[in-house]
Amino acid sequence: MKKETSFALITGASQGLGRAMAFELAKRKTNLLLVALPNENLHQLAAQLADFQILVHCFETDLSLRENVLSLSQTINQNYQVSILINNAGRGGSKRFEEVELDYLDGILQLNIVATTLLTHLLLPNLRQQNQAWILNVSSMAAFSPIGFKTVYPASKAFIRHWSLGLREELKGSGVSVCVVYPGPMKTNQDVTQRIENQGFKGNIGLLTPEDVAVIALRQMFQNRGTIVLGFTNKMSRFLMALLPNWFKIPLISRAVEKKSIEPAHCLALSPSHLLTFFSPAFNPPTPPQTRSCPECRHCCGCWRRRYTCRPARTSGRSRSPCQR
Ligand SMILES: NC(=O)c1ccc[n+]([C@@H]2O[C@H](COP(=O)([O-])OP(=O)(O)OC[C@H]3O[C@@H](n4cnc5c(N)ncnc54)[C@H](OP(=O)(O)O)[C@@H]3O)[C@@H](O)[C@H]2O)c1
Repeated sequence: MKKETSFALITGASQGLGRAMAFELAKRKTNLLLVALPNENLHQLAAQLADFQILVHCFETDLSLRENVLSLSQTINQNYQVSILINNAGRGGSKRFEEVELDYLDGILQLNIVATTLLTHLLLPNLRQQNQAWILNVSSMAAFSPIGFKTVYPASKAFIRHWSLGLREELKGSGVSVCVVYPGPMKTNQDVTQRIENQGFKGNIGLLTPEDVAVIALRQMFQNRGTIVLGFTNKMSRFLMALLPNWFKIPLISRAVEKKSIEPAHCLALSPSHLLTFFSPAFNPPTPPQTRSCPECRHCCGCWRRRYTCRPARTSGRSRSPCQR
């Protein structure tokens, strides 16, 4: 295939933010290389995008496997010129660290960190051949604070943040501009949507549609903004997170995650409402860790004011509930 035109490569393009980015770039008449897991309607999406009279090619592959990242990069470098790379594919979840399977941890680390870093490294020579090229890395508002019960997801997004800004500095003047976007909550896949809806009013604070995020993020990317935080509420939340000390914000946010979503909720996060609650009269200070929950039965003490502690209890020689208030 002749390398005549340049393309934008989007990972995780089949749904959510990646799909919205694909439509936004198609409106700008940018040719697309779409990457997602196999059998996820990527070709159907390509057919819809054909209406924009652009070239669209699909690659169905699991990026959490190193060999797939290597072979994808090789195919791309041999056949296409890439002027825009959007590292969007990412996954997360809310679970107790000690209870998760190794595959769960490995999946997040491989996709969010390893695949993104390796793909960028391997495609960089291609990007550098263009007069002007852009890399847009998708982080998350969760990158601005460590969060218990999510642990690896915010840490992986903080990696994306630091790595992107370092790379941006390194590539200054090279014609390749590196930007990083920090979305707040967006109703994308079923799990995230469910979790946001479960939060009611709070879940809607700072909420943007993937389409809005795509429009703003791409506009600011083309303006060469290194750091893209979207909307007033998310900006405010970022400011608060920089201001508040770790001893205060980490328990506060972690407790909110523990309460709301110790199960499937995919990404994010961190609704800014968790921090804004601080200013509400109904604000509850975080539970002191030593009385928060029993390590045996994980019974939550409920109220931070009452000093319940769980104790082993025995009744007439027979083991009863492992703990007792
Ligand atoms: N949604 C939010 O509230 C939110 C907030 C902050 C940041 N973010 C970040 O925004 C990005 C997009 O999130 P989203 O909510 O739009 O996600 P999503 O709807 O779950 O879509 C994720 C995309 O990544 C692809 N993907 C997942 N695992 C993959 C793998 N192993 N190999 C290749 N592709 C894979 C999926 O492909 P398939 O469809 O083929 O599975 C899908 O296209 C992520 O990096 C996420 O962390 C999201």
